[in-house]
Order: sequence, then structure tokens, then C-alpha cells
Amino acid sequence: MARDSQTLDLNSSYAYVLYARDFASTCRIALVDEHPAGFVLGYRRPADPSCLFVWQVAVDEKFRGLGLAGRMLDSLVHNSGEPPVRTLQTTITDDNAASQQTFRSLAKRWGNAPMTVTPLFETAHLSLAGPDADLHDPERLYEIGPPM
Ligand SMILES: CC(C)(COP(=O)(O)OP(=O)(O)OC[C@H]1O[C@@H](n2cnc3c(N)ncnc32)[C@H](O)[C@@H]1OP(=O)(O)O)[C@@H](O)C(=O)NCCC(=O)NCCS
Repeated sequence: MARDSQTLDLNSSYAYVLYARDFASTCRIALVDEHPAGFVLGYRRPADPSCLFVWQVAVDEKFRGLGLAGRMLDSLVHNSGEPPVRTLQTTITDDNAASQQTFRSLAKRWGNAPMTVTPLFETAHLSLAGPDADLHDPERLYEIGPPM
């Protein structure tokens, strides 16, 4: 799904299985008829465990627009164990309207939580050096919460 999304950076298989093993309580898979249809990778920030960082979220193209991303994110903010999630962070590029709306809607459902957007990682931080380097768009930091 990460590869097929055409948007996400594809991590190594090792990174995905480490998340499944060590960060399962802050990750989700959406199943449709027992087949994977979407996923979220997240972790609690070591400096503030009540802050959930959402690293990757994707829904299979066939199942987009049905609320699956919203349901996975709702489950993470409400049912990720202790301590309760007070704030959520993620990063989004400026051209990703679907993702921006997904997190804007989450903030609204999550007690009209405030949302701020600030610069975080610029192209120079994210692009590999070299003549054939893919230039990565800047990622802005979206901070949501705490809920009102
Ligand atoms: C972003 C993504 C995960 C959303 O998944 P989804 O299950 O389709 O999202 P939902 O159905 O829960 O919709 C969430 C909101 O986004 C809106 N939305 C969905 N697709 C949209 C689009 N293409 N343009 C604008 N808004 C869109 C929905 O209308 C909904 O808004 P609402 O709550 O106001 O009704 C999905 O589009 C995706 O996998 N994209 C490719 C990977 C990606 O870009 N991930 C995010 C990287 S930061």
C-alpha cells in the first residue's frame, strides 16, 4: 500500500515489521473482508509520550473516501493505551489535499482540537545527495490538540 500510494516514501520491509513488533499499540491496519485496505504507522514521542506522531497513513485507492483513514486515526487518539493521547503530530506536503482534509476533520471530531501548521523538514533535509537525487517536497508539521 505504501508503494502503491505513489505519495509515501517506501520504507524497508524491516522497518515495517519493527513497527508491527514494537509499536503495535500506535499502529493500525484496516481490513475489508479480511484483506488489508489501509494502515497507519505511529509512535509516542520519547520526549512527550502523550504526543502521538503519525508517520505514515495510506488507504488502498479502491477504498478511499469511505472514512477508513478517519476511523483508524480516531481509534489511535482514543484507544492507544496509557498515557492518553493529548496531542497528535504529523507532517504533510503542501500538494496533499486529501491528507490535509483527513487531519482537519480529525481535529474537528476530536473536540474541535486546535491545529497549527509550521515548517519542519525542508527539501534539503529529505533529499538524498547526488546527480540523480529525487527532490522531496518540504514537509510541514501539523500539530493537533489537546482537544477542547
Ligand atoms: C490521505 C488518505 C489516507 C485518506 O484516506 P481516506 O480513507 O480516503 O480518507 P477518509 O475517507 O477518512 O476521508 C477523510 C477526509 O478527507 C477528505 N478527502 C478524501 N480524499 C480527498 C481528496 N482527494 N481531496 C480532498 N479531500 C479528500 C474526505 O472527504 C474526508 O473529509 P470530511 O471528513 O470533511 O468528509 C488517502 O487519500 C491516501 O491513502 N492517500 C495516499 C497516501 C497519502 O498521501 N498519505 C498521507 C501522507 S501525509
